[in-house]
Amino acid sequence: MTINDTFLRACRGEKTAYTPVWMMRQAGRYLPEYQQIRKKVRFLELCKNPELCVEVTLQPIDILNVDAAILFSDILIPMEAMGLTLEFHEGIGPVFPTVVRDKKVLEQLIIPDPDEATGFVMETIRLLRKELNVPLIGFAGAPFTCATYLIEGGSSRVFWETKKMMFTAPELFHGLMEKITCCTIDYLLAQAQAGVQAVQLFDSWAGILAACDFNEFALPYVKRIIAALKQTGIPIIYFANNGATLLDYSVASGADVIGLDWRINIGDAIRRVGDKAVQGNIDPFALLLPEEQLRERIGRLLDDAKEAKGHIFNLGHGIHQFTPPSQAKIAVDAVHELSGK
Ligand code: CP3
Repeated sequence: MTINDTFLRACRGEKTAYTPVWMMRQAGRYLPEYQQIRKKVRFLELCKNPELCVEVTLQPIDILNVDAAILFSDILIPMEAMGLTLEFHEGIGPVFPTVVRDKKVLEQLIIPDPDEATGFVMETIRLLRKELNVPLIGFAGAPFTCATYLIEGGSSRVFWETKKMMFTAPELFHGLMEKITCCTIDYLLAQAQAGVQAVQLFDSWAGILAACDFNEFALPYVKRIIAALKQTGIPIIYFANNGATLLDYSVASGADVIGLDWRINIGDAIRRVGDKAVQGNIDPFALLLPEEQLRERIGRLLDDAKEAKGHIFNLGHGIHQFTPPSQAKIAVDAVHELSGK
């Protein structure tokens, strides 16, 4: 099987014949093929069934012709493995009935053996590597983003409990970050061992922090994870959502590829990022543009990204669940055509 390594070459800043593209949340609810499977199993059951995870991971590769696969799982899977109950409620999202807001609960959290506690993830990776002709991206949530779910007990808008803990009980907050970081390092090293060829750290909620607080409470842990993964030699992508104000810190994280959300102009970001590859960053809602305008917009983005050391085309955040798959396909084809495939 010939392997299309364009994505990995771009991550390393090497010359590529065209700009590689994948989409955050490319496997998911916007695909009728995914919904078909979800009719039969609940989300967490799906995440723990390697055969079904393989099927769902492969769907966007076949349907969209993207240049990389991302493991189908969720950032909260290793958090559950730390000993917490995790539920997904229809129309609400993730729920942790027991929240981490005191020392007692924190001390009960374990650092799991990733092969024992999340062997289904490693099995999915091993199975996928036999099937794929594009590189496989593994992932984890960045510690701050994971911590918000454990402290809030689910998704949040104001992050009251999280910030309250940061400012009134900083030792407790750092203690939680420490445990999540240890768990995440083991988890990602196990993914690399099982065969992922790159990893992405999703920091979906980094953008709610003031720059000084990000620097103090979140960045040190991101740095530790990235430093620990260097020994694997695989590229590391760090994506801080809503992170324009944190861009210099993202660069300082040590990541090989800087993920950009859609709010920042990619050309400006590249000038600040310097000698590193970037990933991004079209507004996921721009996929709704009429075909001609969508192609034009993609052409402009590719042009703005010309000076990058390496560019991986992506959305500036996950694809929205009501996006027509045909629009996503138009975008992938446009990236390939306009960048030279
Ligand atoms: O295709 C892929 O990107 C791989 C799979 C993937 C999922 N979640 C599947 C999923 C990845 C990489 C994630 C990451 C993830 N999970 C993040 C970080 C990325 C981001 O979007 O910022 C976060 C914050 C989570 C936590 C999470 N999982 C939430 C808040 C929710 C519910 C709301 C939502 O956005 O859907 C989930 C559920 C989830 N994770 C679904 C999928 C396909 C939908 C579940 C369903 O089928 O009903």
